[in-house]
Amino acid sequence: MKNILITGAGGALGKACVMEFIKKGHHVIALLSPGKKLPYETPAPVSVYNADLMNEDNTLKVVDQIITDHTSIDVALLLVGGFAMGSLDNTDGAMIKKMIGLNFDTTYYTGSKVFNQMITQPNGGRIVMVGAKPALEPIAATSKVAYALSKSLIFKLAEIFNEIGKDNNVVSTVIVPSIINTEDNRKAMPKADTAAWVQPEEIAAIVAFATSDQGATLREPIIKIYGKS
Ligand SMILES: NC(=O)c1ccc[n+]([C@@H]2O[C@H](COP(=O)([O-])OP(=O)(O)OC[C@H]3O[C@@H](n4cnc5c(N)ncnc54)[C@H](OP(=O)(O)O)[C@@H]3O)[C@@H](O)[C@H]2O)c1
Repeated sequence: MKNILITGAGGALGKACVMEFIKKGHHVIALLSPGKKLPYETPAPVSVYNADLMNEDNTLKVVDQIITDHTSIDVALLLVGGFAMGSLDNTDGAMIKKMIGLNFDTTYYTGSKVFNQMITQPNGGRIVMVGAKPALEPIAATSKVAYALSKSLIFKLAEIFNEIGKDNNVVSTVIVPSIINTEDNRKAMPKADTAAWVQPEEIAAIVAFATSDQGATLREPIIKIYGKS
């Protein structure tokens, strides 16, 4: 049984990952926004912590507490993030800062603390972060400038973690979903062909494999999960 830290565990992808890792027999540590409870039932107990992951002090203290309480973090899924449309014409500095805060700062504050813990662990660890297609494909970025810029930092962070972590068996993966079939997306795009979208459960299964003992030989992975979209 491994300790699996999941940020954004109350979200759409978070829920699928919590369920997948419980199904695999692991202990899930869910990190939720301040004051929130897991918004769904789980078939096994989950350890729940709360923090505003855009607040560095708050994040570092809570991750410290998690390490004190559970000794090791074997896998960390850093799923917090958010989306915004916006072309160059209507993307101002405030929007860039907002997207970087939500997509990058949350990942950096949690990820760097967890990484520093994992390199001290005899078995290392696995970190999964979430990129996005517009961060890799310019044509998709032109209408989502702040989002694309903020997600592009995730790829560089993973490179840095992988360079430093390579001798300590700490491997960081970036998953790159296209559109996930979530309730929010279905509401936002009621006429879209949802059959082309990726199910959160499909992503969770890929994440579980990449962080499992079977996936142990993966190095520097960037996993594009585009479905048919
Ligand atoms: N949905 C897509 O189509 C899609 C496509 C590509 C990539 N992604 C990426 O995949 C990841 C998961 O997406 P999703 O659709 O599952 O998102 P989601 O349902 O919106 O979940 C995001 C979660 O992050 C939490 N969160 C937000 N700000 C936080 C903060 N400051 N501190 C702590 N928790 C915070 C939210 O909790 P509260 O609501 O309680 O604040 C929420 O539970 C994100 O990184 C997203 O950018 C999504």
